[in-house]
Amino acid sequence: MDNGPYNIDAGEIQTALARLSKLEQTKSAFISIAAHELKTPLTLVRGYAAILGERLHGRPDADELAGLVAGILRGAQRLGEIIDDMIDVASIEAQSLELNLEPLSLETLVDLAVKEALAGAPERQVRILVGDLSSMPHIIGDAQRLHQALVKIISNGIKYTPDGGRIDISGRLLYVDGAQSDVLVELAVADTGIGIPQEELEWIFEKFYRVGDITLHSTSKSRFKGAGPGLGLTIARGIIEAHGGIIWAESPGYDETCCPGSTFHIILPLQQGSSPARTRYLVQSGLLRTSGE
Ligand SMILES: Nc1ncnc2c1ncn2[C@@H]1O[C@H](COP(=O)(O)OP(=O)(O)OP(=O)(O)O)[C@@H](O)[C@H]1O
Ligand SMILES: [Mg+2]
Repeated sequence: MDNGPYNIDAGEIQTALARLSKLEQTKSAFISIAAHELKTPLTLVRGYAAILGERLHGRPDADELAGLVAGILRGAQRLGEIIDDMIDVASIEAQSLELNLEPLSLETLVDLAVKEALAGAPERQVRILVGDLSSMPHIIGDAQRLHQALVKIISNGIKYTPDGGRIDISGRLLYVDGAQSDVLVELAVADTGIGIPQEELEWIFEKFYRVGDITLHSTSKSRFKGAGPGLGLTIARGIIEAHGGIIWAESPGYDETCCPGSTFHIILPLQQGSSPARTRYLVQSGLLRTSGE
């Protein structure tokens, strides 16, 4: 019997899947090689620009030239950040992210991440309100990596929220029903920004993925809707999952006029060795309770 286009045998599907997986590996290897190859010439640009800056002293046009050198160094700095993000994505995909685990205060982590995100967008008028996290227990994690993940999420909140808007960060404790010692912490980062289309809430965590027509975006790290390479959320998810946690986004939809907002939820288990699959199962099965329940 001829099934037309549906007449595909299992062997063909296997071959196609193997090809897809090979392509994905090639893509990851490309990102890693490209990033490492870009690092060397970038070091040269930084080095020569710094020498140029030092040689300006005493010249009549020193101030004007110093401005140009500062521009080169700013560009090189941003390029360096993008290359570092590419290297991080490659090591997340190769599952080779190394964590230096230690007990961490969630309150301090959030505090430092808010400060850095705000410092990265000095021209933006978005208020950040942090709820009381003083009674949250310490978590075991990598301070630098969790800081990096939080900065990426909060910076997105600032970037995709118009001036005058706000970001609310709150935290709560979750217990596994019937096992009071099995504890997880939840952080929610809610903005009053442009929102995310429902059908793209998972896609935004894919590398290089950006919502909407990317040719219409201006490139900027902090400007309203300024597009970046689309690596921030891939890195944030990789870091959270390396800690056994999960992250997902919720939003009523995308609307630049009404600004329905987006909320990013992060759940981190306190129990060491817990997997993202277990955390996801606990969330989806409705087994988690808050302290008041
Ligand atoms: N808080 C948010 N509100 C609305 N859209 C968002 C928000 N956070 C992320 N997005 C959407 O998800 C996409 C992917 O986010 P991601 O942080 O990975 O990339 P980026 O911010 O564009 O670039 P990068 O973080 O690499 O500089 C963004 O381009 C944007 O379209
Ligand atoms: Mg981002």
